[in-house]
Amino acid sequence: MMDAMEAILTRRSIRKFKSQVVSDDLITQLLKAAMYAPSAGNQQPWHFIVVKDRAFLDEITKIHPYAQMLNEAPLAIAICGDIEKQIHEGYWVQDCSAATENLLLAAHALGLGGVWLGAHPREERVAGLRKILHIPDKIIPLCVIAIGYPAEEKPPAERFFPERIHHDKW
Ligand SMILES: Cc1cc2nc3c(=O)[nH]c(=O)nc-3n(C[C@H](O)[C@H](O)[C@H](O)COP(=O)(O)O)c2cc1C
Repeated sequence: MMDAMEAILTRRSIRKFKSQVVSDDLITQLLKAAMYAPSAGNQQPWHFIVVKDRAFLDEITKIHPYAQMLNEAPLAIAICGDIEKQIHEGYWVQDCSAATENLLLAAHALGLGGVWLGAHPREERVAGLRKILHIPDKIIPLCVIAIGYPAEEKPPAERFFPERIHHDKW
């Protein structure tokens, strides 16, 4: 398996997927990677909804304007924050974002591909996901990750810009 640096530097958003299903064992590994993320006060305020039902995946494309790849993806995982689990208020977005990136990197390292589909703070997407996935009020969907075996290849990006780095002072 690729090392952490290689996974970070070669991960790209994958939006085309083969129809091959992702095994439950791999799904568990993705969720485990997500749950090992750092979180404020170690509160781990996340929940994950594993969506394989074709009808639900198709429904999400109707309430999210940039999620058409879910029509082909065999799997999606909605990453949600439990605002009642926070002791340090307001950090749930960062906590769940850290979990999301862990999940995306793990997917890439395991030979899968994925793309982050933003939900919160777009209220209409949050409301749509609540309805489709029966998410309770105190739980906020941050994003949906479309996942599958990649049917496209993308070269690594070039994003190292030294001018963004400041030493000691701005
Ligand atoms: C908060 C967030 C929301 C995003 N929402 C979408 C989305 O709705 N649809 C989509 O196709 N990609 C979405 N993306 C993926 C970005 O477009 C992608 O990460 C970016 O273009 C960089 O490309 P890369 O992931 O291949 O490195 C989102 C990414 C982030 C971090």
